[in-house]
Amino acid sequence: MADTNKTDLVADDGSEDINGIPEMVAVSGASGFVGSALVNALSGDGVRVVRLVRDSRKVGADAVLWNPSAENCDLTGIDGSSAVVHLAGESIVGLWTKAKKRRIYDSRVAATRNLVLSVLKLKHRPKTLICASAVGFYGDREIEELTEESSAGEGFLADTCQQWEAAAQLAREAGMRVVNLRIGVVLDPSGAALQKAISAFRSGLGGRFGSGEQYMSWIALEDLVRMIVFILSHDSVSGAVNAVAPNPITNAEYTRKLSRALNRPAILNAPEFLLKLAPGGIAQELFLASARAVPARILAAGFEFDYRDIDKALEHFLSKR
Ligand SMILES: NC(=O)c1ccc[n+]([C@@H]2O[C@H](COP(=O)([O-])OP(=O)(O)OC[C@H]3O[C@@H](n4cnc5c(N)ncnc54)[C@H](OP(=O)(O)O)[C@@H]3O)[C@@H](O)[C@H]2O)c1
Repeated sequence: MADTNKTDLVADDGSEDINGIPEMVAVSGASGFVGSALVNALSGDGVRVVRLVRDSRKVGADAVLWNPSAENCDLTGIDGSSAVVHLAGESIVGLWTKAKKRRIYDSRVAATRNLVLSVLKLKHRPKTLICASAVGFYGDREIEELTEESSAGEGFLADTCQQWEAAAQLAREAGMRVVNLRIGVVLDPSGAALQKAISAFRSGLGGRFGSGEQYMSWIALEDLVRMIVFILSHDSVSGAVNAVAPNPITNAEYTRKLSRALNRPAILNAPEFLLKLAPGGIAQELFLASARAVPARILAAGFEFDYRDIDKALEHFLSKR
């Protein structure tokens, strides 16, 4: 990784690692937006990455088959990994029908449980599990500042995240270090969140959601990847970690800043009543809910963000396009 601070990469336990990061790491959801960036970064650092793939046609030297629905997967191919980074899950984007919500839930809760049960059967267990979760854990919390100590919220995403984290608890009980990454909206020009917003503005359809007073906890993809690498090499980090930039922003501010950066008007605000017509509660939970999360635990561990503020992040993203 280009700008990883090597002094951050000294393992706390002094184990034999390359630059402090493990020699071999298993990654689920490796073909996804976050997973592919992580795999590139780790591979660039000389780490052997073994991908957990769901499609038998993709099995290979560094790709091992797993089945999110089976608790008895033979994961011998990842034996020897120091860590598993578990990012797999059905996309939350799309129509929230009953079936889609079931897939969102099962592909996180049952799949995490099943992965952990299979990992625990390995001869040489990895010592670390970094498991994705989301700031959706906190539900809709208006202006309350949310640290990892804050209570869980209510709603479909909050329930899903709680059960997702609980499923990873099995690994903790078995003695593994478990980190539940409560990820905010991940921003990068290669990702759907920013691409959709930019194309809306470019077509003159940019605007805030509802009142715009709701907070959005966001993180630059590059910082998220650096944070995962940092956690891999810092054994003192465990438990819930808010994977968000230190300065969350309201939807109205974000809209205004994006509008200014793109030099496009932000006039087409989406009224709350219209958004709420979307089925399954998706608008309430994804666009209107307020989560003002701060990364208390990772800052205390010494992690340094490259993108603390949205202005610098947007400038960087737009220059990358
Ligand atoms: N991106 C964000 O803004 C954001 C915010 C908060 C939390 N998160 C969480 O972070 C994780 C990674 O996010 P991402 O944006 O990289 O997601 P993504 O691009 O949708 O990738 C997720 C990966 O999971 C696997 N997958 C897809 N459907 C699945 C299913 N039904 N069951 C099991 N695995 C399935 C796929 O990988 P394979 O085909 O390689 O198996 C897919 O590439 C997810 O768990 C997500 O909920 C992301």
